[in-house]
Amino acid sequence: MNEFHHVFIPARESRRTLLLLHGTGGNERDLLPLGHAIDEGAALLSPRGQVLENGAPRYFRRLAEGIFDEKDVIARAHELAEFITAAIKRYLIDETALVAIGYSNGANIASAMILLGLARFRRAILLRPMVPLSNSPMTLLRDFQLFLSRGRFDSIASVEQVEALAELFRERGAEVDVQTQESGHELTTADVAAAREWLASTAIA
Ligand code: MLT
Repeated sequence: MNEFHHVFIPARESRRTLLLLHGTGGNERDLLPLGHAIDEGAALLSPRGQVLENGAPRYFRRLAEGIFDEKDVIARAHELAEFITAAIKRYLIDETALVAIGYSNGANIASAMILLGLARFRRAILLRPMVPLSNSPMTLLRDFQLFLSRGRFDSIASVEQVEALAELFRERGAEVDVQTQESGHELTTADVAAAREWLASTAIA
């Protein structure tokens, strides 16, 4: 197994596994409370990003705030997808009930995996996401359901960035819901409530 530091917490009463992808400077424990708040019974799989930016873990390199090293984005998306594939086998995860939840940098690597056709999940909650690649292949996303949550005052993942990402997903056939919170880049209780509600409304598990 291509080893990422990670936590796996088995499900209590759900078929679902939530794949948790943290923001810059986070780690594999960061989003566990968020995962439990969104679905208290689900299993949690939470890998730590392998890139260090001045000691802060991330999932891929960036050249400056908002300027991504796209070659690295692609390479790291492949590595993370390989880890997820191995974890599915190791932990006997029901792939049809795997849901990604990413915040900021974690949402960006999740989006990269989706756009590159590497995602083993078909549903994702993307909190404060951005467009991860300037040129994305026309991967067919017809069976994807995606929830994007943005902050009206977010100067990092701007309202327009999130709209552009939603459009990329829609052009490829995904079903996309976008919600706007009265916040900046930080998460709020409104994000958690909206994500819970959206997940409960999706078909599987
Ligand atoms: C990124 O680098 O992925 C985005 O700028 C979000 C962040 O991590 O600050």
